[in-house]
Amino acid sequence: MGVKGERDGPSPHRISKEKPNQNLKNIMSNLSMEQWGEPIGPEVMVHSTSQQAVEQLAGEIAAGIRKRTRQGGRYVLGLATGSTPIPLYEELVRLHREEGLSFEKVTTFNLDEYYGLSPESEQSYHHFMQKHLFSKVDIAPERIHIPDGMVPRNEVERYCAEYEEAITQAGGIDLQILGIGRTGHIGFNEPPSDDSTRTRLVTLDPVTRQDAASDFGGLDFVPKEAITMGIATILEARTAVLLAWGERKQEIVSRSLASSPSSSIPASFLNLHQDAAYLLDEAAAPEFQPA
Ligand code: F6R
Repeated sequence: MGVKGERDGPSPHRISKEKPNQNLKNIMSNLSMEQWGEPIGPEVMVHSTSQQAVEQLAGEIAAGIRKRTRQGGRYVLGLATGSTPIPLYEELVRLHREEGLSFEKVTTFNLDEYYGLSPESEQSYHHFMQKHLFSKVDIAPERIHIPDGMVPRNEVERYCAEYEEAITQAGGIDLQILGIGRTGHIGFNEPPSDDSTRTRLVTLDPVTRQDAASDFGGLDFVPKEAITMGIATILEARTAVLLAWGERKQEIVSRSLASSPSSSIPASFLNLHQDAAYLLDEAAAPEFQPA
C-alpha cells in the first residue's frame, strides 16, 4: 500500500487472489523474489473471458463504493480510457441501473487526455467518459476530474501541479484502473518514464500514435502530445488494477510482469506496488514453463 494508504487508512477492499488456477501459481513462482528483491508484486488473475474479469472487478468496486458510502466518506476512483475498460464501464452502468449502485459519493480522476483536443471533440477522453460512463450514472459533475487538453502551454506546469493537489485533497485514489499500451505505457507514460514522474505534458510514442490512427481517421490527425498522471502518481493509488485482453497484449504483459521495475517498460513499476493486480483474459495471459 502506498504512502497515502498509510496516511488515510486502509483500502476499503483488496482484490482477492480467488481461486488462482495452476497457470497462475506457476507464473507467480517463476517470477521469483530475486527478480523483485522483495516478496511483493502484482497478483495475476486470469479469467476465461474479459466479461468474467470485469464482473469480478466491478463487484469489487461496487463493494468499495458501498462500504465507503456507509462510512459517510467518498470513494475515489482512478479511471482509464481506450477499448479495454469499456466492458467494465458497461458492467458498472448495469450495477447502477439494475442493482442500485449509486455514484453520488464517488470522485473520479482520469489518467490522461490528448493535448490540443477540446472536451467536445469526439476523440477526446472527456467525450469518451461521458459516452461510456458519466452520462449513464448519478455522478456529480463537480466530482469528475479529467486533465484539460486545452490548457495554454505556459500554464501546463501549474495546471498539472493543481491536478496532483486535487488528488491529494480528495484523500488519494482508492482504486486506479489501468490499461497497457504496446509500448508498455500506463496512462501515457511512454518509455522512458520512471517512478519519479508526476502529472505532466508528454510526447506520445509513434507506436501509440499508430494504434490511435484509426480513431482519428489517419495518423496525421493523432495528437502528438498528452497530459498524463505520472508513474509516481499512479503508484500512490491504494490499489492499482491493470486490465488486458486478447493476444495483442500478451507479449507486453509478459515482458512487464517478468521485468524488474524499469523505465523501458513503465508498467513494470507496478511490480513495486503492494496492492497491484493484473486482471487478464486467457489470451492476454503470459505463457509459462511448468516449474
Ligand atoms: C488511456 C490510457 C492508456 C490505455 C492504453 C491501452 O486512458 O491510459 O494507457 O489504457 O493505451 O489502450 P487500449 O485499451 O485501447 O488498448
